[in-house]
Amino acid sequence: MTAVTARAHTNIALVKYWGKADTKLMLPQTSSLSLTLDQFYTDTTVDFVSDLTADEVVLNGQVLTPTASQKVRHVLDLVRQQSGETRFARVNSTNHVPTAAGLASSASAFAALAGAASRAAGLTLSRTDLSRLARRGSGSATRSVFGGFVEWQAGTDDATSLAVPFQEQVDWPIAMVALVLDPRHKKVSSTQGMQSSVTTSPYYPAWKTVVADDLAAIKPAILAQDFTTTGEILEANAMRMHALTLSANPPFSYFNGESLATMQTVRDLRASGVPCYYTLDAGPNVKVFCQEADLPAVTTRLAAQFGADQVIVAHPGPGIAFL
Ligand code: DP6
Repeated sequence: MTAVTARAHTNIALVKYWGKADTKLMLPQTSSLSLTLDQFYTDTTVDFVSDLTADEVVLNGQVLTPTASQKVRHVLDLVRQQSGETRFARVNSTNHVPTAAGLASSASAFAALAGAASRAAGLTLSRTDLSRLARRGSGSATRSVFGGFVEWQAGTDDATSLAVPFQEQVDWPIAMVALVLDPRHKKVSSTQGMQSSVTTSPYYPAWKTVVADDLAAIKPAILAQDFTTTGEILEANAMRMHALTLSANPPFSYFNGESLATMQTVRDLRASGVPCYYTLDAGPNVKVFCQEADLPAVTTRLAAQFGADQVIVAHPGPGIAFL
């Protein structure tokens, strides 16, 4: 067996995952739905070799400490269990995403790792099973196995918590404009942040109802290519997720001043007749959902405010591929 390289793209959740029901099996409290993006991806090569006494994980050219590589080694252990492979692995991963800036690098990273590690160990997993394996590294990675619009069905156990393509081939002229406001590592990881929200926010029970309602409403809107309804749902869903951080004990927030300024700019654009909507994950960077025809207006305005280098235009992207 030789080295295998896989490429997986990030995804942006339109209806967010924010909370685990089982931290060991990485089962979420709710289902979620995302759009895989073409601009941000991770390439990961895995090789099981005889000359190592521990797994060796290199990310963007830097060897990770055992603490930093813990989740990666956990996924490798699962692959070894499933395949009977006994050797340690050399893992080399390159993120074409600003790492840990709320652009979901863990999603592309663990989807690519699941793909490369399972194949390098001789397993031929279905994409559904790959999504289950990716989930064990990072929840949002579950959805990055597929392209286009993807649902992560919460399920009730390891076998039933998996990604299902909702619409893989997206024939809808939409875009997601990513505004990179702060490429540094986030202070509160999503893992910690969501756990704190689950256990301390008095609004958590309401969030579960919000997600169920939003999922039921966004699916027909996507199928009907109803931009306004899709945009209204994704924006409100993101703000309600962030309300779980503000209402946690102790309270925290992923926003910075520029995040708030960007949200206002999006509302101003809308008021001036340019339809667009914002969403944020566990970081300060804002993503703006718009129609292809409005991209010039949206990007010109954002570039004028924050600089053209900070503005990255993404479109629906593909599922996992082996290089
Ligand atoms: C805000 O998947 O990074 O991006 O499962 O603990 O690794 P872990 O968390 P992660 O959380 C993603 C949270 C989110 C929303 C989403 O992608 O659905």
